[in-house]
Amino acid sequence: MPEAFSITAEAIAAERARVADDLDQFEISRVIKKDDLELRSLGPQDLHLRILAVSVEHNVDHAALADTTNIAEARGGKIYPGNSAVAEILETGARVDRFKPGDIVITHCNGEPDIYGYPIYIWAYDAPDSIGWYGREAVVGDWQVVSAPLDCGLNLWEIAALPLRAPTAYHLWRRALGIFRLKVPREQLATAQVLGFGGGVSELFLMLAHHEGHHAIFCAGSPERRKHLEGLGIETIDQKEFNRFASRDDTKGFIRRVREMTGGVGAHIVCDMLRGPIFPAGLAVCAREGVNVSAGWQLSMNVQYNSASLSIKQITLDHTHYETVDGCGAATELYGSVFRPTVHSEIYAFEDLPRAVHELHRNTQTGIPIVRVADEMPAAVQALIP
Ligand SMILES: NC(=O)c1ccc[n+]([C@@H]2O[C@H](COP(=O)([O-])OP(=O)(O)OC[C@H]3O[C@@H](n4cnc5c(N)ncnc54)[C@H](OP(=O)(O)O)[C@@H]3O)[C@@H](O)[C@H]2O)c1
Repeated sequence: MPEAFSITAEAIAAERARVADDLDQFEISRVIKKDDLELRSLGPQDLHLRILAVSVEHNVDHAALADTTNIAEARGGKIYPGNSAVAEILETGARVDRFKPGDIVITHCNGEPDIYGYPIYIWAYDAPDSIGWYGREAVVGDWQVVSAPLDCGLNLWEIAALPLRAPTAYHLWRRALGIFRLKVPREQLATAQVLGFGGGVSELFLMLAHHEGHHAIFCAGSPERRKHLEGLGIETIDQKEFNRFASRDDTKGFIRRVREMTGGVGAHIVCDMLRGPIFPAGLAVCAREGVNVSAGWQLSMNVQYNSASLSIKQITLDHTHYETVDGCGAATELYGSVFRPTVHSEIYAFEDLPRAVHELHRNTQTGIPIVRVADEMPAAVQALIP
């Protein structure tokens, strides 16, 4: 049976009891544990995958803490996490004609689309019976993967950083721009002022905005991530200069800075995946007719706003989740040409995956964390390993 990491409701309960529900003391590495996994037998439309590398995702953090919902408990006491992977196909089911053994693929985590193609469930999270990719091998339906763009100019770790975050950014950006353009057409304004707050999804969102000719500003605490974005021509603001908006004066200083950087206009489009103190700061700098989009709630699930003031300024709040399956394919076309992700300085060994999640939780990483799962890499990707 191949090795795979799991999270059990029992381990969460034990850790929550140990720290008396103080999530600041919670040790995620005590909850994500190496386990074995019995693979289901290969169906006619299935692929048997060998996982090469994975990125660490925040919803694993949410699953381990049980801070959004206790998903391990809801799924019968145990989940096998992992929403994004680069993999080699070992075997294909009898009716698979899009792929062959030896192909390199990336996964998407749309668990089950609704009638318009948007995800109802996320794979390896709330999709029933879904098994994630923080393991050595997996069996998935062929609809669950996209061919890896090995000649896109990115290295293997950069490709591994994108399967979850890039489609999310791609969907957020189309939604944000589409809503803004309903209010302010290109005829009236060509260049939008676009602001994003720290994190991989926001970074990719800003790369899309910059690529399409808009003025993109990245506000984050991490100097390494800001430097990376500056290298791509995106302007930055050090969030810690404004104490992560701890006081009114900090927020006032931030408003002044954004006004200076946007010719007094403010941000037409704001991407806020974190909420918490970021949300009021993002709203305060929103321009008239602005749009504030989010697909995350890393710092808080609940937000408060003054409905009258948002109406008067014609500001739209929009919430998205993950991309459609078609959109995941289209987002992959932009690897390398638009998406050039930050990658954390250490590439973690498979055994160190719990530490990688712990360090993600502690916010000590310099980019998107990548775990190398396969010791032996197939010839097709060897030249992509830096
Ligand atoms: N719906 C979806 O499909 C989807 C997909 C991906 C992610 N998400 C969600 O979106 C959120 C962000 O994920 P991500 O992948 O973009 O982020 P990420 O790459 O994991 O980065 C997290 C960022 O959070 C920032 N941060 C951490 N602690 C902070 C604090 N106390 N105050 C302000 N900023 C802080 C850090 O930025 P600095 O320290 O540099 O400021 C860090 O770069 C998570 O909640 C995740 O679950 C949702």
